[in-house]
Amino acid sequence: MSTDILKDKKIILGITGCIAAYKACYIVRELKKRGAEVKVVMTPSATEFITPLTLSSLSGNKVVVNIFPHVQKDSTDIGTWHIDLALWADLILIAPCTVNTAAKIAHGIADNAVTTLVCAHRTPVIIAPAADVDMYTNPITSENLAKLKSLGFYIVNAEVGELASGLTGEGRLADIKKIIDSTELVLSGYKPDFEKKKILVTAGPTYEDIDPVRFIGNRSSGKMGYSIAKAASLRGADVTLITGPSSETSYPEIDVVKVRSAAEMKYAVEQHLDLNDILIMSAAVADYRAASPSDKKIKKEDNLSSLELSKNDDILSLLERREKLFVGFALETDNEKVNAKKKLEQKNLDMIVLNSLKDEQSGFEFDTNKITVLHRSGRETEYPILSKFQAANKILSEVLKIGAAH
Ligand code: CTP
Repeated sequence: MSTDILKDKKIILGITGCIAAYKACYIVRELKKRGAEVKVVMTPSATEFITPLTLSSLSGNKVVVNIFPHVQKDSTDIGTWHIDLALWADLILIAPCTVNTAAKIAHGIADNAVTTLVCAHRTPVIIAPAADVDMYTNPITSENLAKLKSLGFYIVNAEVGELASGLTGEGRLADIKKIIDSTELVLSGYKPDFEKKKILVTAGPTYEDIDPVRFIGNRSSGKMGYSIAKAASLRGADVTLITGPSSETSYPEIDVVKVRSAAEMKYAVEQHLDLNDILIMSAAVADYRAASPSDKKIKKEDNLSSLELSKNDDILSLLERREKLFVGFALETDNEKVNAKKKLEQKNLDMIVLNSLKDEQSGFEFDTNKITVLHRSGRETEYPILSKFQAANKILSEVLKIGAAH
């Protein structure tokens, strides 16, 4: 399985008329950078904001704007362009999608190049709406987007932020990274199958302070946990992410709780567990902390020759289950499966995800991972090298297989 989900994928980007149309340039660039072939279709209003020439230069393909191109009268080969394009594509992405275009699509209207194309679609369609706050939160818009969602269109909700009008509110086009992640998700065949589920995810390392300058940490980047949180959110879950120090970024709808030490992480998990159905502990929690951290910088002249450590609590082992589903991780260097199975038992888990540091391109700092998922039932699945986003989605699908996800 390729870790480049977008490589060689054929994507149509539909652009409609609003100020966020300029962001479509960055979307084309990002899709192309990841190996996709992109063809752009624009509504006439979109061309008021950005020129077809810009998009054809960026995509390397002709841009369609007119439904009735001015071709020779006796030419018929272009008459079914919308059908040809719809058949060509693996996916149609409309970003930004105005409330006007969303309304038209929801009602089967096909009066311009974008709406006509969508009417003929066979492939998945992603809609990323953008509008000013009152237009976006208008109940008619909400109803149209809800209808599109119920019909199987994937909606990347607009975000809260500063708008072109100067107002602040809901309506800003979702972040481009999130639109690209959604494209990868939909192209991989995932649907919003985590709707109404509440997931608590932990990520990153923990830092145990020795003095105001130094700490005991580990090499976890947080990438795996953040990928799980983002994938779960894109699949419709209500996600809380408890994270140790990490430079990874999240989505605005994910509730992020930042912690530093194992004790802080334990407290945060305990505080949030009751509100969630599923706990995925992917954090690399430190097992030891400095027994007496100094509040002043330890100086060279202090001739420190050893550091006394105290053991941290094991967060997973001490949590009360209460009908929840618990997923742990095991990072091993030797006797991988034996150790992972031991942790599954000892920590009373439903499922454990094994990472071996022996596998190439796996573990900390890599964007890829090789995982083996072990269920309490004895079921085992070994996956090939995957991107962390792909691995996150496999883990989530394995969670659904447990069947107890409430
Ligand atoms: N974990 C935890 N609390 C800790 C340490 C680990 O909840 N104090 C969780 C991790 O988040 C992970 C699982 O337990 O889901 C296994 O963590 P890992 O570091 O692989 O194993 P440890 O139990 O710490 O054992 P060891 O370090 O000896 O391998």
